[in-house]
Amino acid sequence: MDLSTTFMGIKIANPLIVASSGLTNSVDRVKECADAGAGAVVLKSLFEEQIVTDKNALTAKDDMYFWYPQAVDFINTFSKEEGINIYLRMIESCKKAVSIPVMASINCVSPKEWPKFAAEIEKSGADGIELNIFIPPTNINLTGYKMEETYVDIIHEVRKNVSIPIGVKVGFYFTSLYRTMYKISNLDINSLVLFNRYFRPDIDIETLRVVAQNVYSSPSEITLSLRWIALLYGNIPRELVAATGIHDYQGVIKQILAGASAVQICSTLYKNGVPYLRTMLDEMEQWMANKGYENLNSFRGLITRSEENTAAFERVQFMKKTTGQLF
Ligand SMILES: Cc1cc2nc3c(=O)[nH]c(=O)nc-3n(C[C@H](O)[C@H](O)[C@H](O)COP(=O)(O)O)c2cc1C
Repeated sequence: MDLSTTFMGIKIANPLIVASSGLTNSVDRVKECADAGAGAVVLKSLFEEQIVTDKNALTAKDDMYFWYPQAVDFINTFSKEEGINIYLRMIESCKKAVSIPVMASINCVSPKEWPKFAAEIEKSGADGIELNIFIPPTNINLTGYKMEETYVDIIHEVRKNVSIPIGVKVGFYFTSLYRTMYKISNLDINSLVLFNRYFRPDIDIETLRVVAQNVYSSPSEITLSLRWIALLYGNIPRELVAATGIHDYQGVIKQILAGASAVQICSTLYKNGVPYLRTMLDEMEQWMANKGYENLNSFRGLITRSEENTAAFERVQFMKKTTGQLF
């Protein structure tokens, strides 16, 4: 059975990519992912703030305290230079330790001084760089257009500084998601990763405090990326990589049927352990054997070939015809 595919245009042995997270924040963990059969890994993101912010410049009012608590911890622990050097050394060591592609990741919020740092990442041997772009949509003066332009500017600036493949990982907070994905995918990038899942603060009604709950996704969250992969497949000129809510081999198969080239997984490996990768691969192969598919191209995007299916992904209101029930 041939499970090979591509990620950022690079051939990988199978479509299971371990997503940027604590699962990929050290050489040992990356090695564990490779040993368990991962097709590729995306290293834990280095945050733009880690590259440009000095500890002393941080104030509790900064947006990042809310959106990027891990970056704040990191900045409080290491100086800017230490942080960057630790990251570059980790890329070098991971490249020596494993033979699967190792992608670096930067969380970016602006196209300012930091893109030059992307060149350092390239020099340290990363096979590609994933831009985890998120501009908090919490500024009343920020128009949708301006926000989208910032995404474009970031990608242009990074591309000027590197020749390795670029993946762009985004969330879904866009005024016009389809058009923005189209615009981004027409830039000089290699993959589009849909969608990141952000930190989701909750409220403890006993202590009356904000708490970090819901750190991991649930399988039902797969439907958001499934819809958008199906709608975009064949209509934009880039590889689509699915993320969020893919917890088992069925989730992987669904995303490939919708048109994904590969998938990124995280929560399921936190819950079931990294060796669960191997189970997912075995079960995928079994499903393919039962269906008579020898490779992923035999069924990639299959679901989008019928107009009825595409129409179902476009539909958002419940109707008797789509639910089978009259509410
Ligand atoms: C503990 C944790 C840390 C994460 N850190 C990052 C990160 O640094 N950069 C990033 O792009 N995504 C990060 N993510 C998001 C994951 O890469 C992934 O996109 C998200 O969890 C959705 O996939 P899942 O449903 O398989 O968990 C993190 C997720 C978790 C649970």
